[in-house]
Amino acid sequence: MPSPNEILAELKKVKYPGFTRDVVSFGIIKDIEVAYAGVTVIIAAPSAKPEVIHKIAEDVKQAVGAMPGVPKVEVKLERPAADTQARPQPSIARKSLPGVRHIIAVASGKGGVGKSTVAVNLAIAMRGLGWRIGLMDADVYGPSIAMMVGMEAPVSLTQERRIIPLQRFGIKYVSMAMFINDETAVIWRGPMVTKLETEFLFNVEWGELDCLVLDLPPGTGDAQLTITQRVELDGGIVVTTPQEIALIDVKRGAEMFREVRVPVLGVVENMSYYLCLRCSKRHEIFSHGGGARYAAELGVPFLGELPLVRALREGGDSASPLAALNPAHPVSAAFKEIAASVIERLDAPRGQ
Ligand SMILES: Nc1ncnc2c1ncn2[C@@H]1O[C@H](COP(=O)(O)OP(=O)(O)OP(=O)(O)O)[C@@H](O)[C@H]1O
Ligand SMILES: [Mg+2]
Repeated sequence: MPSPNEILAELKKVKYPGFTRDVVSFGIIKDIEVAYAGVTVIIAAPSAKPEVIHKIAEDVKQAVGAMPGVPKVEVKLERPAADTQARPQPSIARKSLPGVRHIIAVASGKGGVGKSTVAVNLAIAMRGLGWRIGLMDADVYGPSIAMMVGMEAPVSLTQERRIIPLQRFGIKYVSMAMFINDETAVIWRGPMVTKLETEFLFNVEWGELDCLVLDLPPGTGDAQLTITQRVELDGGIVVTTPQEIALIDVKRGAEMFREVRVPVLGVVENMSYYLCLRCSKRHEIFSHGGGARYAAELGVPFLGELPLVRALREGGDSASPLAALNPAHPVSAAFKEIAASVIERLDAPRGQ
């Protein structure tokens, strides 16, 4: 009879239906019990559709059943805890945006982890999968999306004085930077900022969108909490880097969303390893993999890891995000997979 570790290694060859990633890295294998009578694999895919779960169960059964010495395989579905997976009622009135199907927020426990880079490239990758996407830079103190996508166009308003978003790379976007300069940003503090920001958000003429992506300011303070409480959010994404110190913040990010009863769609580990395009090798600079471990510990999905690559920074600095400029780049492909996971989770029927 194989050991649980050997079974896990075998399951790493089983792909999640429709993805190139395996079921283990998706974090859906919760336990493996090896007994005399056979093997039991416990899976949990809270947001997956029934037919997807069925396919996973079949594939897992087949893969483990084909291992030498396994007499019988059973796949059991772990029921998610009701308090974290179901969509609970918000305690204060939240507003949705007419015409916008989903709103998600990208957050990080600390600054500089690549949150805006992830928000922009994820938005473009989701667009590439056919979704109509809006992007809002909600970071008043350091709006960087403006720079990442280029901001020459002047702001225009509708006759009703609603803000017309700019369009670039097939996505609509607005940034607080459209309306403030460095001096005004400094005098804006606390509640005033959040008030303006939410007003601003609701005053944009978004039109029909499948998803609006909010790039939150770094951290998990009052400003972030207020935005996540005022807007009808469908989910949050937490971006981290692999250093131990950043990982502690993953917990804070996940807790912030839980506090306001917004489901965490998953964790993205950025600058996970260095991808050398010359030798096509991965170089592990920090001990990568912490993001996946922490996600598992927190019971939230792991969406994927992104390497440290010069092209990503250059794309950001030159207003041509990598996902738009070079969709064939391996990192653009990684964004596409993350985008597909996010779309699948958003489209999944609630409460499964
Ligand atoms: N995977 C990566 N590879 C290389 N450079 C990256 C990567 N991710 C982000 N960067 C670069 O790191 C810098 C910080 O990234 P970014 O502005 O996206 O972080 P942030 O978390 O939004 O920061 P802030 O807290 O200031 O909002 C940028 O110059 C960006 O181009
Ligand atoms: Mg940022």
